[in-house]
Amino acid sequence: MTDPTTNDPQIHLTEIDVDLDVQEILLAASQHDIAKLRRLCRTQSSLPDAANVKDPETGYSPLHAAIAACEPDEDEKTNGEAASADKELLESGTETVKFLLQEGAIWNDLDNKNETPGCLARRIGALDLYELIVDAGVRAEMLLNRLDEYAALSDGDDEDEDEDEATENTEDKVEDETAPELVEVSTEQPAESVSASEPTPVNPNVNNRGYLSSTLSISNDRILDSDANGVMMRWESDIMLKSAKSLLPRPGLKVLNIGHGMGIVDGFFQAQSPAEHHIIEAHPSVLADMRTKGWDTKPGVTIHEGRWQDVLPGLVGEGVTFDAIYYDTFAESYADFRDFFSEQVIGLLEQDGKWGFFNGMGADRQISYDVYQKVAEMDLFEAGFDVEWEEIPVPKLEGEWDGVRRAYWVVENYRLPLCRFMD
Ligand SMILES: C[S@@+](CC[C@H](N)C(=O)[O-])C[C@H]1O[C@@H](n2cnc3c(N)ncnc32)[C@H](O)[C@@H]1O
Repeated sequence: MTDPTTNDPQIHLTEIDVDLDVQEILLAASQHDIAKLRRLCRTQSSLPDAANVKDPETGYSPLHAAIAACEPDEDEKTNGEAASADKELLESGTETVKFLLQEGAIWNDLDNKNETPGCLARRIGALDLYELIVDAGVRAEMLLNRLDEYAALSDGDDEDEDEDEATENTEDKVEDETAPELVEVSTEQPAESVSASEPTPVNPNVNNRGYLSSTLSISNDRILDSDANGVMMRWESDIMLKSAKSLLPRPGLKVLNIGHGMGIVDGFFQAQSPAEHHIIEAHPSVLADMRTKGWDTKPGVTIHEGRWQDVLPGLVGEGVTFDAIYYDTFAESYADFRDFFSEQVIGLLEQDGKWGFFNGMGADRQISYDVYQKVAEMDLFEAGFDVEWEEIPVPKLEGEWDGVRRAYWVVENYRLPLCRFMD
């Protein structure tokens, strides 16, 4: 279109050139023509970020186009020749996807149907391609997590400011087209909507301190924050039961729970008659609710009021240790969680103890869940922990989200983590 303000035919031509380049790149991607893609990405194209162009109609990126071309042809499925053609297509698709990733293609860009390239690969059953995208996601997230750490370190400010700055840095990156991923993920998330560069974002309006001073609505089957984000919901009870059982298999043990919420997991811990049952909780309304329900007088219970970040150093200083630790907070970043397990657990867990956490990272999209499982696994390994995962089917949650701002759980199976010190 001619620029309406200038009516300049030169601009008209440039826009047509750009459109043609976009279509040429997408076509080469769908034809798995790597030689042509290389030329277009590296030399010939008028576009600065050729690996991330978008089709205006479908929202497809070159990765989407390369993967969509691998969808098996339904009519020819029984035909042996067609099967070998599909195999060849998958092989060339794999090479094309690898090439595009090397060229900086964004692993979780969304098309107009709200699918990332990985979602598309999974839907058409191209699981090898799916794994390639998951691995790319893991690399991107690990890198961004490290960059944020580095930014926080080089600031040299105090911890809380670091936390806020880390969030700001993340948002800057998210807005920057060249920065593919977010780095902030809560294990339990007050996340807003899913967007191209935010598969599992943190609502920029909800951080831990903001949440802790917000008004809660606490009922028998859910806790919502003032923006109707789900803090805790009754449907998680089975997950809490299985977590409590795997962490505390017999009576007489010492357990620490971080984040009381609706008291579901604490109820299951109590049922195991622990010798000591410590609970850290920071929200004043949850603390008031705990007292109303008599938690302060239950056998073995010690309530620590405050954020775990402030409470745990004192417990470590006193030399208190536990057989089991559970972590399930709200509106915290992945960086907070990593600080928790790499800096605090080591001083609190008995040598043969076990610890676990609510594994809700990226649970609003299968590929994000898979990426964050691997990211966490690598960071846990680096911090000296082995982790075993148990898959638990999650019941259908339709109807659960009425009145809740966002369905924070979409994936079919919960992966329950059980962590121990490495041998
Ligand atoms: C998801 S709920 C926990 C649900 C709990 N597992 C259950 O079974 O009901 C998270 C809880 O962590 C608390 N919390 C959030 N940030 C915290 C922090 N930094 N330190 C301690 N508690 C925190 C919240 O107030 C909330 O009660």
